[in-house]
Amino acid sequence: MTKSHLGIILCLLLSSLNFSASQTSVDGPTMQALKSSLNLTKGVDWSNPNPCKWPTVQCDASNRVTRIQLNNKGIRGTLPPNLQTLTELTVLELFKNQISGPIPDLSGLTRLQTLNLHDNLFDSVPKNLFSGLTSLQAAYLEYNPFSPWEIPETLKEATSLQNLSLASCNVTGKIPDFFSSQTLPSLTRLQLSQNLLQGELPPSFGASSLQSLYLNGQKLNGSVSLLQNMTSLVEVDLQGNAFSGPIPDLSGLQSLRVFNVRENQLTGVVPPSLTASKSLTTVNLTNNYFQGPTPQFGKSVGVDVITNTNRFCLETPGTPCDPRVTTLLSVAESLGYPVKLATSWKGNDPCSSWLGITCSGSNVTVVNLGRQGLTGTISPSFAKITSLETINLSDNYLTGSIPNELTTLPKLKTLDVSDNNIYGDVPKFGIGVNVVTTGNANIGKDGPSPPGVSPDGDGGSSKMSSKVKIIVPVVGGVVVVLCLVGLGVCLYAKKRARPAKVQSPSSHMVIHPDHSGDGDAIKLSVAASSVGGGGGTESSSSDIHVVLRNVTNNFSEENILGRGGFGTVYKGELHDGTKIAVKRMEPSAVSDKGLEEFKSEITVLTKMRHRHLVALLGYCLDGNEKLLVYEYMPQGTLSQHLFHWKEEERKPLDWTRRLAVALDVARGVEYLHTLAHQSFIHRDLKPSNILLGDDMRAKVSDFGLVRLAPEGKYSIETRVAGTFGYLAPEYAVTGRVTTKVDIFSLGVILMELITGRKALDVTQPEDSVHLVTWFRRVAASKDKDKDAFKNAIDPNIELEEETLVSVQKVWDLAGHCCAREPYQRPDMGHIVNVLSSLTVQWTPSEADPDDLYGIDYDMPLPQAVKKWQANEGLSQTMDDSGSSSSAYGSRDNTQTSIPIRPSGFAASFTSVDGR
Ligand SMILES: *[C@@H]1O[C@H](CO)[C@@H](O)[C@H](O)[C@H]1NC(C)=O
Ligand SMILES: *[C@@H]1O[C@H](CO)[C@@H](O)[C@H](O)[C@H]1NC(C)=O
Ligand SMILES: *[C@@H]1O[C@H](CO)[C@@H](O)[C@H](O)[C@H]1NC(C)=O
Ligand SMILES: *[C@@H]1O[C@H](CO)[C@@H](O)[C@H](O)[C@H]1NC(C)=O
Ligand SMILES: *[C@@H]1O[C@H](CO)[C@@H](O)[C@H](O)[C@H]1NC(C)=O
Ligand SMILES: *[C@@H]1O[C@H](CO)[C@@H](O)[C@H](O)[C@H]1NC(C)=O
Ligand SMILES: *[C@@H]1O[C@H](CO)[C@@H](O)[C@H](O)[C@H]1NC(C)=O
Repeated sequence: MTKSHLGIILCLLLSSLNFSASQTSVDGPTMQALKSSLNLTKGVDWSNPNPCKWPTVQCDASNRVTRIQLNNKGIRGTLPPNLQTLTELTVLELFKNQISGPIPDLSGLTRLQTLNLHDNLFDSVPKNLFSGLTSLQAAYLEYNPFSPWEIPETLKEATSLQNLSLASCNVTGKIPDFFSSQTLPSLTRLQLSQNLLQGELPPSFGASSLQSLYLNGQKLNGSVSLLQNMTSLVEVDLQGNAFSGPIPDLSGLQSLRVFNVRENQLTGVVPPSLTASKSLTTVNLTNNYFQGPTPQFGKSVGVDVITNTNRFCLETPGTPCDPRVTTLLSVAESLGYPVKLATSWKGNDPCSSWLGITCSGSNVTVVNLGRQGLTGTISPSFAKITSLETINLSDNYLTGSIPNELTTLPKLKTLDVSDNNIYGDVPKFGIGVNVVTTGNANIGKDGPSPPGVSPDGDGGSSKMSSKVKIIVPVVGGVVVVLCLVGLGVCLYAKKRARPAKVQSPSSHMVIHPDHSGDGDAIKLSVAASSVGGGGGTESSSSDIHVVLRNVTNNFSEENILGRGGFGTVYKGELHDGTKIAVKRMEPSAVSDKGLEEFKSEITVLTKMRHRHLVALLGYCLDGNEKLLVYEYMPQGTLSQHLFHWKEEERKPLDWTRRLAVALDVARGVEYLHTLAHQSFIHRDLKPSNILLGDDMRAKVSDFGLVRLAPEGKYSIETRVAGTFGYLAPEYAVTGRVTTKVDIFSLGVILMELITGRKALDVTQPEDSVHLVTWFRRVAASKDKDKDAFKNAIDPNIELEEETLVSVQKVWDLAGHCCAREPYQRPDMGHIVNVLSSLTVQWTPSEADPDDLYGIDYDMPLPQAVKKWQANEGLSQTMDDSGSSSSAYGSRDNTQTSIPIRPSGFAASFTSVDGR
């Protein structure tokens, strides 16, 4: 009895002692606040009044909290705002929970060594994150859904930092330039993968002591030359960015083990310093534009070089290139290995239509790289191409002087370096050599123009208020400025696209090579010095009219390629013979959306480049005039080839071609469907929107235009764009749009390819007018009546045994695509798989390396997706009202292409069933 009394007294005593301890502990209140703002799970027992007794919490001798470690406990809740009062805290680890809300201000935690909050649901970081955290050695914040933030300047204060991980944290902006070992002397691991960082590598990286650098998966660009100075590097991952230029000499990187530069736009010869590296264990080079010999690495190195995604001269590793190739590559080296040359100069034979190269037999006689936006210097290696007769490097941005070696070229007749920034004495060439050096301000002088003087010399433009970029196609080596938009001004650089040539007093242009992924495109920045300017503006905007009118022969009838719901398409021919297609939008086809919105949507479309999408090259907005400039597709529409080949005196398409076309279309649309999280839906797929090039490869046109149509005041049912015969039933009935709408339309196109019949054919008996209905009926009777199937096949297809098997498979696929319920239809990836398995059997020799991915080199999908995502706010769904259209329109007016329009546009809503 006394014993038990004693026990009770003891207990009371102890607990009152504990209580008083927690009262006196400085950290008590904060810890209690932490406890109540976290939703602790059952496994965590923080019931003791003294926080120092809590499991996963540690205190020092004076009851100050030093460590909080609650990892992977499924904890929810938030952090209290006053954690910074725990001034003795050395370790704060709460990783792998579901804690949300902001990360509180931690400044002043001067003893904090480890901050580990990765894999939570924190939504923001304080502005002064890292401020005063002078003992911090490791910070791991990866995988938190922060709202976009930039790496704060206060990071500089974390001078003890060794490891920093901010992967997948929504970090935006540029990488700041304070990573030198003077500022952050201990930093060895920097992990910034999968963010939204952009811009170039900061120069301070070159003076850092980083061993591990992860920057993969964002929008970084520019040169990687400063890797050369990062001699401590052990592992570097730059995968999936837009870095360009060559890999530098890496011989100083004695500890380099992992080198991953996959999926960038790197060019040039893989340097021997990398292939010979003794420390290297893994190297990833796939999906760049590397040139020269396929690199040969040591046996112990794990290599991931899919040769055909690069531009190596020969496939066998280590085999040297043809001497002509080697020489031309050293010419390209002096030019910084531009992407444009890397994409064109492939294979081991420069005489196989390399950009700018002309041969006589197998001797290179002409190097014509005028007006290619080239920078760098003139290589003395030109002298090794003894067969050279003409060198044209005019109208670029070359510096340096003309190498003396060039005078030794025995057959040289012309050297044109006009309009560059060449300086120094002109060497003495033999009699009969025409040396053109005009337009080089400092030729004959000792050095280049002093820095700071802008090449345009337009002092007034220093107050430039806005910049506008457009994409300019470069075709046949000639820069053609199509048109551009900005401030309601249209400008045109007719013959010159050089900064020195000022078009109008109030504006100037700068042209520079674009390494950011537009491949053959050059970006033209136009800086207008005044908004909505006066006289200069007017003259500029008449310029554009002159140009596009001229090239389309004053929008003449003869130039009409077709008419569609969105406007009339004209063929245009530029002065150098390049053909373009100009779509003149009907004012009624374009909504009254703000000009800005229209521009941003068009801008998005110009960025969508894919081998099987017709490229929108540029656009011009000038008052009511809205012109879209497309690449010209010489072989017209699929419907011409499929339904009107007789009138057009063509041969019917054979089965192989039809299959190839189907696959091309599927790939183009697959690309649209897989962009960003929200699919991009075409909604008006049909043979008149499928265009063919001279190689009879197909491209999908008119994607995205539906979005530009006026936003109707109409009910959802009428807000349908599309063409009868191709419309998925649920879309026609409810206006519901999913990618399955395009699948249905593609199914109809497959049926047309098989049968040679139009989606709606009013010449057929009443019950066979609608192809899908008829097709289903034949399909249903197919097993009973073998002839019914065979009779349904286009008689113009030669039916061999093998063909029949292939047709049968596409037949089944078509039926699958046109299933009544959207969910029963396959997705585009499946269609691509089925069709490519069939085409491979048919045309093994045509297997194009690009087709491995179905993606244009000009823009790898991940980059396109990133670009798209960057713009995604602009263009998400396609739920506007719309009207039917055809790429080159229905030049084949006989085709029953019946547009459905909102009732307000009833004028063209006629003859639905052919009456
Ligand atoms: C915390 O738990 C309580 C009770 O279980 C619940 O009502 C509350 O919503 C939770 N809070 C969070 C942030 O999960
Ligand atoms: C930094 O990261 C490395 C590798 O993960 C690890 O071994 C090291 O302990 C970390 N340093 C600190 C201070 O956490
Ligand atoms: C990044 O921020 C945006 C905008 O706040 C948000 O929608 C998105 O979910 C964030 N992404 C991640 C990975 O947290
Ligand atoms: C890198 O990207 C930025 C925009 O993110 C652009 O302004 C800059 O010109 C690009 N630099 C290079 C070298 O392409
Ligand atoms: C590398 O370091 C040297 C010497 O500090 C410097 O001159 C050079 O510019 C650096 N190179 C790069 C690419 O940063
Ligand atoms: C890089 O190459 C190595 C070695 O072949 C390979 O194991 C690894 O999967 C590659 N990494 C990527 C991201 O492709
Ligand atoms: C190519 O050059 C070589 C050496 O200069 C010469 O012998 C040969 O005839 C040339 N071939 C052609 C087709 O010009």
